Amino acid sequence: MNMKVGIVGTGQMSTLHVAGYRACGAEIAAVCDINRASYEARKPHFGDARYFDSHEAMFEGDIIDAVSVCVGTRHHFDIVAAAVKHGKHVLCEKTLTESGERSAELANLVGQANVNFQIGYMKRYFPATIKALDLLPAIGEIFSAHIRSYQGHEGVHGADLYNKDSWKSRDGVPSPTRAYACGGMLNMAGSHMLDLLHLFLGEPAVVYAANWAPKDYDAETSGNALITMASGAIVHVDACLSPYSRTGTWNDGWDECIALHGKLGKIEVYYPVWDKPGNNAPLVVHYDEASQTTTTLTFPKVDAFHAQIAAFVANCESGRRSKPGATDGLVVDRILSACYQSAATGEAVRL
Ligand SMILES: NC(=O)c1ccc[n+]([C@@H]2O[C@H](COP(=O)([O-])OP(=O)(O)OC[C@H]3O[C@@H](n4cnc5c(N)ncnc54)[C@H](O)[C@@H]3O)[C@@H](O)[C@H]2O)c1
Repeated sequence: MNMKVGIVGTGQMSTLHVAGYRACGAEIAAVCDINRASYEARKPHFGDARYFDSHEAMFEGDIIDAVSVCVGTRHHFDIVAAAVKHGKHVLCEKTLTESGERSAELANLVGQANVNFQIGYMKRYFPATIKALDLLPAIGEIFSAHIRSYQGHEGVHGADLYNKDSWKSRDGVPSPTRAYACGGMLNMAGSHMLDLLHLFLGEPAVVYAANWAPKDYDAETSGNALITMASGAIVHVDACLSPYSRTGTWNDGWDECIALHGKLGKIEVYYPVWDKPGNNAPLVVHYDEASQTTTTLTFPKVDAFHAQIAAFVANCESGRRSKPGATDGLVVDRILSACYQSAATGEAVRL
């Protein structure tokens, strides 16, 4: 019988999740949003799914086997905790929670539950990422890495970027951006790349960070960090709300890459804009010092959202545990919390 899935949060991410589930034959049995208008606005996507205005009611009984958590990050903890308590498998959007501390608590809860849990770092599912992982031994010991995530913003470029009300706090109330993402570009853009860093290079050890934001903004538009990994490799992180409209591999303002420098060569993986996964496929560029050649590897277009959801469903059905899981989400959140702490104090943070 097809797996029955519920979606909590019927905002922009919900439709990507619904399409992914349908593509692998799962049934969207229920959707939940505290704001009925959000549900109504996207109702045609949800077919015959039952609507709930409370996740607790949706988790009762056997209406669903699994749930996608597609609400803002600060709501993840309570919803994931309730889902695993009710024995539901969970695919949770990133980031896991709003802090390393909360994520440690949640990862612990999830670890004790007898369910499958996956976190939505879907870039792991691009063939280019999988190939880069395969190629790692070819570049030898990695001594440094660079992460660049320069992301354009809703078609707004140049000076307009530095006077957006959605990034300004008012009367001590966090800006909509901060409330949504629990941070700025390090969190929104950097989190995916930090997850890849963890995939490629293992555990982080020490974080030093400095952030920049326009006047009155309460979240960084330029987040910068230097991370020493447990392996000894040094990582430069640069995540930015990009003012440039015609930069990047595909000349569309999206300029995102992770570069891994090893003793024997280097690997660069270039990623396309996140919400049009069908448009471009990420690229791998491999330089090999022994042959002194550079090879550009191209891949078929794969929708990483579909791929991650197909893996999630297959794992739920077979009883395997998904990767990336809660402990992987925790690593990213520990790095992010350390970045914000370091940027606030000017001190390096040891993890
Ligand atoms: N994987 C990615 O590349 C990617 C990209 C963008 C966003 N995200 C993540 O996806 C998540 C959702 O983002 P979005 O852009 O779809 O948000 P959104 O603001 O468009 O939608 C969130 C919806 O959740 C609803 N909601 C809030 N609290 C709720 C609750 N307690 N119960 C039920 N519904 C509730 C809101 O009413 C809203 O309709 C966030 O965690 C975000 O970080 C991931």
